[in-house]
Amino acid sequence: MILKANNIFKSYGDLAILKGVSVSVNKGEIVSIVGASGAGKSTLLHIMGTLDKPDKGTLMMEGQDVFALSEKQLSDFRNKHIGFVFQFHHLLPEFTALENVCIPAFIAGMDKVEAERRGMELLDILGVAHRAKHKPGAMSGGEQQRVSVARALINNPTIILADEPSGNLDSENAASLHQLFFDLRDKMQQTFVIVTHNEELARISDRTIHMRDGLIY
Ligand SMILES: Nc1ncnc2c1ncn2[C@@H]1O[C@H](COP(=O)(O)OP(=O)(O)OP(=O)(O)O)[C@@H](O)[C@H]1O
Ligand SMILES: [Mg+2]
Repeated sequence: MILKANNIFKSYGDLAILKGVSVSVNKGEIVSIVGASGAGKSTLLHIMGTLDKPDKGTLMMEGQDVFALSEKQLSDFRNKHIGFVFQFHHLLPEFTALENVCIPAFIAGMDKVEAERRGMELLDILGVAHRAKHKPGAMSGGEQQRVSVARALINNPTIILADEPSGNLDSENAASLHQLFFDLRDKMQQTFVIVTHNEELARISDRTIHMRDGLIY
């Protein structure tokens, strides 16, 4: 087991959003999280990604009690172990595709030549190597999303957390992004937790977690 969230509670003001959620994820698993709008899916994913802290409950990752870490240790841990893919890819517009992919590696202290070598390798695996020197504004939505997946992969994260990664793509690009996740799992044993409204993705994932009103059912 590479991730275990135990009895997570989260409120905003007096509004209870997560009401005791526990989730375990094994290496190489593709887990989808589904549920109505407002159920708490993104809140849970952010906590699993250490972007937000629970009011109560623990998160173990790679044997580490992550919320026991200091802020500095936690941001290092996040940079090393967690890759994020969002619905809107959050690429930096003034940097090229390759530069965007390499930024997390630079933050982790990888040298430039090695980061760029690995960045190009990933862009190639994702079928967008020919766009390496383009800035996001000069790429299609599907290409930008592939670049953001490469960025999520560059530090060999323990887990990739994705929040509606195909929500912004047409059905063909969405299907090919989903196929890519499965290829990465098959080739690299990459682990994914994916919040999705896409029924096809939920159907083909290894396991689906259903959320309603801040609980898993
Ligand atoms: N920072 C915040 N402050 C106050 N309320 C919040 C905050 N973030 C989320 N909420 C509320 O928490 C509830 C759960 O939000 P969350 O984003 O987790 O839902 P979701 O399941 O991801 O929904 P969607 O499918 O629409 O993305 C919502 O009712 C939302 O309004
Ligand atoms: Mg959401």
